[in-house]
Amino acid sequence: MDKNFYITTPIYYPSAKPHMGHAYSSIIADFFSRFKKIDGYNVYFLTGTDEHGLKIQRSAEKQNKDPKAFCDEISKTFEDLTKTLNLSNTDFIRTTENRHKISVQKLWNILEENNQIYLSKYSGWYSVSDEAFYNNDEVENKDGSKVAKLSGSIVEWVEEESYFFKLSEWEKPLLEFYEKNKNFILPESRRNEVISFVKNGLKDLSVSRKSFTWGIKVPSNENHIVYVWLDALTNYLSSLKYPDESNDLFKNFWPADIHIIGKDILRFHAIYWPAFLLAAKIKPPNRVYGHGWILSGDEKMSKSKGNILDPLEIINIYGLDPLRYYLLKEVSFGNDGNISEDKLENCINSDLANNFGNLCQRVLSFTEKNCASVIPDHKFIKDDLVILESLNNIDKIRSFIDNQDINQYMNFIVDRLFASNKYFNDQEPWKKKDDKLRLNTIVYTSLELIRKITILLYPVMPKTSVKVLNTFNIKEDEIDFASLKNNEILKQQSKINKLDILFKKIDK
Ligand code: ME8
Ligand code: MG
Repeated sequence: MDKNFYITTPIYYPSAKPHMGHAYSSIIADFFSRFKKIDGYNVYFLTGTDEHGLKIQRSAEKQNKDPKAFCDEISKTFEDLTKTLNLSNTDFIRTTENRHKISVQKLWNILEENNQIYLSKYSGWYSVSDEAFYNNDEVENKDGSKVAKLSGSIVEWVEEESYFFKLSEWEKPLLEFYEKNKNFILPESRRNEVISFVKNGLKDLSVSRKSFTWGIKVPSNENHIVYVWLDALTNYLSSLKYPDESNDLFKNFWPADIHIIGKDILRFHAIYWPAFLLAAKIKPPNRVYGHGWILSGDEKMSKSKGNILDPLEIINIYGLDPLRYYLLKEVSFGNDGNISEDKLENCINSDLANNFGNLCQRVLSFTEKNCASVIPDHKFIKDDLVILESLNNIDKIRSFIDNQDINQYMNFIVDRLFASNKYFNDQEPWKKKDDKLRLNTIVYTSLELIRKITILLYPVMPKTSVKVLNTFNIKEDEIDFASLKNNEILKQQSKINKLDILFKKIDK
């Protein structure tokens, strides 16, 4: 069985500092990455910054900065954010790195050799904000400007010599590919969107620009730079040392298992990217998941709209793990979602302080008082086994993950937390002082429940979960998802370490 797993986030434009939308994609990818790790996979998790193109060049010019110096500065804030978000990424790629340039130029050469690229002239609309070409029927007049219907961003007229990729030739092969690989694009609504777009007909795609210089040169013609999307998408290969296809990274991890992206960049990942790869005779990725937007009010949160919520501020006030928990649990994955301080506070109080925190605190303090802070002995009865075994179906839980059904995964956790609190209440161990074995067994069962649920919470809230598991002397690199099948991992007589309050309830 293939125990390698390759997951990516988009590489973000360092045109302005990161916001909650970027944090969202990165946290989602980290969640899957950490789950796969505790399920015994070798995980390669890639993120980074997309630094070429007109959008970046103009942003740098606005500040009178050299584009590379400008990128260095802002890319650093994205790299810092990977630390702040406690991401477990393996690599952070910048498209201005030489290793990336080598990959892009090689891919270009192969496309040229395969007769997939020709020189002609582009005339049409271009959105610098989206770095995208649009057809006439994809733009409209709005408040006196021409904008792209899809994104609402301003478009400008471009007429210049350009290389084209023969995208039109890939219309049929792409449709066949989608047909064969039913889960290539998820969620399903996005898959349908892409298929109907492709069925409407694909035109050849302009893949070079001539009127500015900030990018990777076309190897065979120094007057052109490679279209920033062909450049950017290649990052997923260059991190694996492409074009060296015989090196272990490439051999083990390509094709990528999943590209996590926002729905704004679906077309690039679900149409252009597999077409480029098929044309270069490289396997396309297994899956592209286009999630929804984090909204601000009812608008997409975006740099260009300036309506952003700074993840750093939220983390400073509430801490990282509550934010991660909120984004994973409260946003319906695949759809748009909202975040506000009010909603976050409600979630912290109801789920984290009252449910998870409460279970840990009351069981551990009861253990301290009645079992001298060591794991007691046990003799299970049916009640104990029923609740313990409700967490044993690891195949079902794996299938939530493999279907990207984050909400089912989270609901399962919340449901088991309620059930565990109820178990402890209903069993009334405080009334069992003259039946020591029964009292001990209730405690043992409750501790096992905490162990199991905390393992499930690890991909969601790594720091908090490690803290809780450390009370049982389980270290981060020992966390093993498959151990959920076992109801007797905790060893009698081993010491339980003290646990500080996990989440403070917020007064409202
Ligand atoms: O598009 N809600 O970079 P970008 C949810 N460089 N996710 C959001 C979001 C929001 N409001 N705003 C941004 C680019 N995102 C290209 C990508 S990949 C080869 C090149 C997330 O800085 C989401 O993942 O505009 C979205 O697709 C991505 O950031 C766009 O980031
Ligand atoms: Mg964008």
